[in-house]
Amino acid sequence: MDLLLEAVYRHYGFDFRQYARPSLRRRLTRRLSLEGLQTLSGLQERLLHEPECMERLLLDLSINVTAMFRDPSFFRVFRTKVVPLLRTYPFIRIWNAGCSTGEETYSLAILLREEGLYDRTRIYATDINEAVLVQARQALFPLEKMKEYTENYLASGGSRAFSEYYVAAYEGAQFDRSLGDNIVFARHNLATDRSFNEFQVVVCRNVMIYFDMSLQNRVHDLFYESLQRLGVLALGPKESIAFTSHADHYDVLDPQNKLFRKAR
Ligand SMILES: C[S@@+](CC[C@H](N)C(=O)[O-])C[C@H]1O[C@@H](n2cnc3c(N)ncnc32)[C@H](O)[C@@H]1O
Repeated sequence: MDLLLEAVYRHYGFDFRQYARPSLRRRLTRRLSLEGLQTLSGLQERLLHEPECMERLLLDLSINVTAMFRDPSFFRVFRTKVVPLLRTYPFIRIWNAGCSTGEETYSLAILLREEGLYDRTRIYATDINEAVLVQARQALFPLEKMKEYTENYLASGGSRAFSEYYVAAYEGAQFDRSLGDNIVFARHNLATDRSFNEFQVVVCRNVMIYFDMSLQNRVHDLFYESLQRLGVLALGPKESIAFTSHADHYDVLDPQNKLFRKAR
């Protein structure tokens, strides 16, 4: 497994060497059998010679599950505790790292539009996986998800009719194109790439659960460097900055919803 991960890193630059081992092993074993191969070295050879196989593995390794207004209480607290801080800035930059197919990013855009802040916001939404970014740019989500997303939206403090934001088409729910006006979707690998701007907010939820401690520390270095002083860091429900190298550099803004504020 070490050899395969090293080969992928050297050949493609995708660094999974520090991803948590048990879930890596499960995913590689699954890919082995789907490719009809017997050994990891066989898989390594195919990966190096067939970029399409690498794309398939990338989809396996980067779990893309997401939802609009996922964990509604997070968005409710974002409205009540983060939005008032953002009002004090003339221009707002948000980094949504590990944005997957864009549901989280469009949820933030809707929330900020309702709060009258979207026009002065730019959201940089990044992911390691180009395939999910292509989907994200389309702002087209499955119609059958709209009931769940409407419930999430209402539970998150949304007060409009959620259906105002999309039209039901044959292919799915097409979200209002103008919601994408201030979003830049771009590829960025948290394991290898550098910081690219200074932000008032970094939202990175349900991404670092797949990383080992040393990669988590690297990513926290990156976020610390990318946040301006008093900037806000938002993590997923199972994630924390406790035990990372930056635990002492943040105040806790909301412990349940994993909101932290860069203090020093
Ligand atoms: C489970 S999804 C989380 C989506 C969204 N943040 C949410 O909470 O609903 C995790 C995302 O992290 C991305 N990811 C995994 N490793 C990454 C890396 N090294 N750099 C950037 N994104 C990565 C995956 O491609 C995937 O889209």
